[in-house]
Amino acid sequence: MAGRIPQNFIDDLVSRADIVEVINARVPLKKKGKEYSACCPFHNEKTPSFTVSDSKQFYHCFGCGAHGTALGFIMEYENLDFVDAVEALASEYNLDVPRETGHFNNAESKDTKQPLYDILEKSSELFKQQLKSSDKAIKYLQQRGLSGDVAKAYQIGYAPDGWNFLTDKLGKDKATVDALIDTGLLVSKDDGKQYDRFRDRIIFPITNRRGHIIGFGGRVLDQGEPKYLNSPENVVFHKGQELYGLYEARKAVRNLEQLIIVEGYMDVVALAQHGVNYAIASLGTATTSEQLQRAFRTVRTLIFCYDGDNAGKKAAWRALENALPLLRDGFEAKFLFLPDGEDPDSMIRAEGKDNFEQRLATAKPLSEFLFERLSEDLNLNSSEGKSALTEKAKPLLSKLPESVFKDLLYQNLSSITSIPADKLQSSTPDDTTPVKVAAKPRSNREVKQNATRDAIALLLQHPKLSCEVQVPDVFKDSAIQGLPLLHEIHALICNHPDISPSAFLERWRDNKNFSALQKMMQRDIVCHDDADSLKNLLTDTINNLTSKHNDQRYAMLEKKLQETGLDDAEMEEYKSYFTM
Ligand code: UTP
Ligand code: MN
Repeated sequence: MAGRIPQNFIDDLVSRADIVEVINARVPLKKKGKEYSACCPFHNEKTPSFTVSDSKQFYHCFGCGAHGTALGFIMEYENLDFVDAVEALASEYNLDVPRETGHFNNAESKDTKQPLYDILEKSSELFKQQLKSSDKAIKYLQQRGLSGDVAKAYQIGYAPDGWNFLTDKLGKDKATVDALIDTGLLVSKDDGKQYDRFRDRIIFPITNRRGHIIGFGGRVLDQGEPKYLNSPENVVFHKGQELYGLYEARKAVRNLEQLIIVEGYMDVVALAQHGVNYAIASLGTATTSEQLQRAFRTVRTLIFCYDGDNAGKKAAWRALENALPLLRDGFEAKFLFLPDGEDPDSMIRAEGKDNFEQRLATAKPLSEFLFERLSEDLNLNSSEGKSALTEKAKPLLSKLPESVFKDLLYQNLSSITSIPADKLQSSTPDDTTPVKVAAKPRSNREVKQNATRDAIALLLQHPKLSCEVQVPDVFKDSAIQGLPLLHEIHALICNHPDISPSAFLERWRDNKNFSALQKMMQRDIVCHDDADSLKNLLTDTINNLTSKHNDQRYAMLEKKLQETGLDDAEMEEYKSYFTM
């Protein structure tokens, strides 16, 4: 595994890169007032609604809502994942990307995730060793047709039977036990004792796109229940965002062009065993939009491969709905349904690579699957059937980004229903049209929430303000939505007062709040641009939020006083609100 790219290199690179330069080299920009504009490269349009802000170092399209930093632009435009985009951006500035050497040398890093990555990696090593010495686990894998090579490529292991395997091997000191609990490798009992989550199971490590192990799936060797056990969600493992096998596929195939999305761990490794080493799986849940975005960053063609039964059709339909908004021109989703009772594992074992790949070549294009499924139970020779199809199809087609493909699908619908395409398309409420926020009456709740967003937006866009303004410590545990995040952002920026807004934003790319923060980066703040006005606005906003927090605490304590009474500290706090 290539070592991690040091965070300070990424910070410097992103701060140094000029978004106007980066985008202008790919999409020629015109200066328009303070900003730059062009026709959006992410949807088809005739009048420019794509803008690039030099001061914010951020781009935004008012047509389709695409937005991000210079690095984010390269990821989207060139269809690259994070690491490759860093490489691409660095090479534009003639910089070599440094790598940290070794896996566990990150001692000075304050990164809280590092101890978790380390413990996951060490545990995985132990599971791999155990596989080598377990006859029954080896026999099981052999019986499922897997060779040592594939076990190695996917780092398959075995968790032995017993309750304390990991602590016996890795130690019982607090740091180790905490890390094992935080990653879900140990389960805590009510009495404070712990035991191994994975016992007597085949272990499939799940890696993120940078090759770090972030979780495990474990399969029983016999008929036990549950058949698969997975790591729980934790700081480094977000099920809805990761794809099993993606890192391995990228490593195995030099120029990946397509990916097959299957349901199970065993499907991925069985396909690889037969040389189809470009399959990935979602992790025991429906494929989410984030997972599809990630897959489309790697390839332009996704083939969903499911059982031909009802459950398979349903899963495919959900995948289709999630894929629609991502299908810009040049991107494609296809669907392969296997005969009843078969999964990709049994199929490829029965018919081999060539037959399976021939089958893949016959996968249904999305348009075909879409109209076929919508037309089930409809008589398309009748006006009723045609209008029912139109009603069902329109909300789906409107999810597609503006593209030639979208126009073609409307033409398709038009030729089936004999309703002119322009009529179909024009009567569709277009949810990509920007909403004029100012014109919309706001509810009270919205106004209040906006104060939190304004404060975060001010900090993101003007990081230097953070040193001049205090954010109360009580926000850290506030029950009011957004205040803990505001506190965290303020504290982080205070530690790096010179960080550029886009470099700061990039640090949040793997965080669940990333897309919310991108929106706040983009948010227009109505205020004069001089330092004093900005500082006053931020101070006022934080004061308002403090009152709101105090009101909430007061109401909560008053309720508690009546219901169960208050302890000394709570009483103290309760009284303090009278003197304010
Ligand atoms: P399947 O039951 O289709 O398993 O579950 P499979 O992949 O064909 O497994 P084998 O061939 O019997 O070994 C598909 C996926 O659903 C999740 C797992 O991610 C699995 O790979 N799953 C299934 C669970 O998380 N828990 C379960 O108990 C079962
Ligand atoms: Mn199976």
